[in-house]
Amino acid sequence: MSEELSSADFVAWFRSVAPYVNLFRGKTFVIAFGGKAISGPLARTLAYDVNLLAALGIRLVLVHGARPQIEEELREKGLPSLYHGRYRITDAPALDCVIDAVGSVYLEIEALLSQGLPDTPMANSTIRVVGGNFITAKPVGVLDGVDMQYAGQVRKIDADGIRAQLGIGNIVLLSCMGASPTGEIFNLAMEEVAEAAATALAADKLVFLTDSQGATDIDGSLLDELTVDAAERLMTLGDWLSPDLKRYLPCAARASRAGVGRVHLIGYNEDGTLLRELFSRDGVGTIITRESLEQLRDARPDDISGLVALIEPLEEDGTLVRRSRELLEREISRFSVVEHDGMIVGCAALYPYGEDQAELACVAVHPHYRRWGYGEQLIKRIEVRARAAGIKRLFVLTTATSHWFKERGFAERPIAELPAEKRLMYNLQRRSKVLMKPL
Ligand SMILES: CC(C)(COP(=O)(O)OP(=O)(O)OC[C@H]1O[C@@H](n2cnc3c(N)ncnc32)[C@H](O)[C@@H]1OP(=O)(O)O)[C@@H](O)C(=O)NCCC(=O)NCCS
Repeated sequence: MSEELSSADFVAWFRSVAPYVNLFRGKTFVIAFGGKAISGPLARTLAYDVNLLAALGIRLVLVHGARPQIEEELREKGLPSLYHGRYRITDAPALDCVIDAVGSVYLEIEALLSQGLPDTPMANSTIRVVGGNFITAKPVGVLDGVDMQYAGQVRKIDADGIRAQLGIGNIVLLSCMGASPTGEIFNLAMEEVAEAAATALAADKLVFLTDSQGATDIDGSLLDELTVDAAERLMTLGDWLSPDLKRYLPCAARASRAGVGRVHLIGYNEDGTLLRELFSRDGVGTIITRESLEQLRDARPDDISGLVALIEPLEEDGTLVRRSRELLEREISRFSVVEHDGMIVGCAALYPYGEDQAELACVAVHPHYRRWGYGEQLIKRIEVRARAAGIKRLFVLTTATSHWFKERGFAERPIAELPAEKRLMYNLQRRSKVLMKPL
């Protein structure tokens, strides 16, 4: 254990990973990377991380490209590297280069995943990597009058065959080549193979390792979350995107639309990005989802467990008044919640008193998601609900958060101003402050 990581930190960190381990076990991830990621200095550590994912029971399909290696082969043979649109114009001599380059990259990956030296993360690992004729290819054909020859597209993926291999614990390694039913070999675009495989398998995740940290906006800052719509807008506008991003983004967006759970774009130029993206709350790259990961909405009965998990710790430390599960079940319609990636991370409730007054109660945001503005958004939503119900004045009782409410338009008022019913229930021991806001 490093000196910087105290034993308490280590234990806390290790425990914090447990939800992901539970969540990911048995799930199918497709991880796609170009030949550059394999030729770089971080190929070895990438293999360590793939090994770790496999050890955690994640069903893995790896898809590799070999662009720089093909370029090298062509150069060595004095052949030109010709592209038309997204595809390499692949004549017979170029195809030989593709076969040589892809074959050697494939073997290199196999070797990387076969390491097992003691004192490395791969000691005791028993990974089995399998390839096979899982991809049926078809020719791109003639594009704008240009005969693309052995440049191909994916025609079909043998999803059952891949699933059978994953089912017995093997990692499936797909390359950027495929054969057609006529027995010819075609050079495919790696990102299209990844898209087709993830879609055919209805994968839970598709991860692209790219030459940038993820998708960025015009001033270079990382876009950590994109809906498919936003990703498609970015594709048409994003002149500034890196070459990998330009190629991968359309495939990422299509895969997401076709039902792949989450599509991630992360960088391969930094050690450990795969683990940090998958096992930390906020990740390090861009995640593409069909709908926004965040949702501010009224609570539903199936939110109860999530709500309990959110507010229980705050009840235990006395910040919030205790509410039983039964009470929550009865009063669920009074709550609004913030959901982030399927988890309830914030809540607030509205309790009317008489005709035109209401209590804003149980305002809470999960500690990991504070200072993202969720608290404020929840209050605004409750205010909208209150106005719609004809409420003229909101009040809140709080022991430790009065300043936060004051900054949001509430003012401290005497207890005597509370509605009579609430005044009778006022807990003198808690000595909460009473704050009110006219609507
Ligand atoms: C109060 C709470 C709901 C705020 O949630 P949030 O999503 O972080 O709120 P926002 O992002 O909208 O606002 C964050 C700002 O409020 C400030 N803030 C948070 N708690 C505060 C408090 N007790 N007093 C004063 N300011 C506070 C933060 O410092 C931050 O301000 P800054 O960015 O200028 O530094 C959250 O801290 C919480 O759940 N606290 C525990 C439960 C609680 O006290 N509930 C109120 C009783 S009903």
